[in-house]
Amino acid sequence: MKILMVCLGNICRSPLAEGIMQHLAKQEGLDWEVDSAGTGNWHVGQGPDKRSVRTAGRHGIDISNQVCRLFRTSDFDTFDHILVMDNSNLVDVLLFARNDGDVKKVKLLLGDKIVPDPYHDDALFEPVFELIEQGCREFIKQNK
Ligand code: 4NP
Repeated sequence: MKILMVCLGNICRSPLAEGIMQHLAKQEGLDWEVDSAGTGNWHVGQGPDKRSVRTAGRHGIDISNQVCRLFRTSDFDTFDHILVMDNSNLVDVLLFARNDGDVKKVKLLLGDKIVPDPYHDDALFEPVFELIEQGCREFIKQNK
C-alpha cells in the first residue's frame, strides 16, 4: 500500500506523519510505502522543521533526511491513500482531483478531527506528534 501524508508547508506535520506511519507500519511487518508533500511551496527542497526533527527524535524516529516537496496531480496515480492534516489541506488537495476516484483517496488523517498547524507555537509539536501517532495507529488497525 502507498500512502501520502499532506499538510501546508511539508516541514512540520506531514514529515512527522510520514516518519510515524513508516515506523509503525514497519513494526507491524507491513510493506507500506509512505511519502509526504505540501500544498504551499515556501520550503521546497528544505529538510523538516528542526522542532519536528527533535520531537520525532525523542520518540526514536529519524525524519532528518526528508526533503520538502509540493503535492502534484500525479500523486493521485501513485498513492492509494492521501491523508491530510486539516480542512484547508483537504480543500487544496481536492482542487487537483480529476474524478471521483481521486476524490475518494483523500481523507483527514484523524477522520473527523484536524491536526493543528504548530508552525507558530513551539508547545504544539509534542501534542501534534501524539495526535498524528493516534491517527496512524487507527489507520493501520483499519487498513492492515
Ligand atoms: P506544516 O506547517 O503545514 O505542518 O508544515 C507549516 C509550515 C510552514 C508554513 C506554514 C505551516 N509557512 O507558512 O511557511
